[in-house]
Amino acid sequence: MEIVSSMQRYYEKRAPMYDRSMGYDDPVVRAALQPVIERMQDLLRGRKVLEIACGPCFWSSQVSQAVQSITATDYNRATLAMARRKPLDWNKITLVAADAYHLPVQPATFDACVAVDWFSHVPRSRIASFLSELHDRLRGGGVVVLCDRLPHAHESLSDFDEEGNHLQQRLLPDGSTYHIIKHFFTDTEYIDMFSAYATAVATEHFPHCRRVLVWYQLDDTVK
Ligand SMILES: C[S@@+](CC[C@H](N)C(=O)[O-])C[C@H]1O[C@@H](n2cnc3c(N)ncnc32)[C@H](O)[C@@H]1O
Repeated sequence: MEIVSSMQRYYEKRAPMYDRSMGYDDPVVRAALQPVIERMQDLLRGRKVLEIACGPCFWSSQVSQAVQSITATDYNRATLAMARRKPLDWNKITLVAADAYHLPVQPATFDACVAVDWFSHVPRSRIASFLSELHDRLRGGGVVVLCDRLPHAHESLSDFDEEGNHLQQRLLPDGSTYHIIKHFFTDTEYIDMFSAYATAVATEHFPHCRRVLVWYQLDDTVK
């Protein structure tokens, strides 16, 4: 899909400025995110974690103290290069260049997955195959933890493609523009999407930092 390649190119170019543009180097932003980080640490504690679309590893670094290990994957080597420069816990974090839609890892390797600001970019037509591939890499009882943005209070979502993906246009400082998919799913939509795989799907909102956490534990028998 052209828009999938467009998102890959957009984040490749944005890699050097990504953390700053997200405010991840700002103590105020980091403090606001702390409740999300703590909840994520609780959900992932002691687990062998696969991270999808890790970017420059801000979130990997925040959860690494709690987990057994984290294999942090991203399509773009430019984002991994930014991560590699950081003084992270490299005994626990392994970086792997990987397309989320073709994960180069063995089945049943991990007991958790985390992905921040990723699921909102997956085209609707690829959600089922992405989840099937992801779940295959997890052991039964594995936990999936997703974190995405809540919309602004009065944000109007007006631009949709033919398969119902919400589209945004993004501009980089060099003047280049890209179309990206950015879903803002409701809790009901998350629960509908994931309840085929898990008996319980939980969502938690963190409005002060406009974040939603979604998590579920895979049933032993259903992947
Ligand atoms: C919004 S950023 C999130 C980065 C990181 N999770 C964070 O929150 O700091 C989206 C990430 O998805 C990555 N990406 C885009 N397409 C991808 C694909 N097909 N497979 C894996 N990663 C991809 C981009 O390189 C980028 O790092």
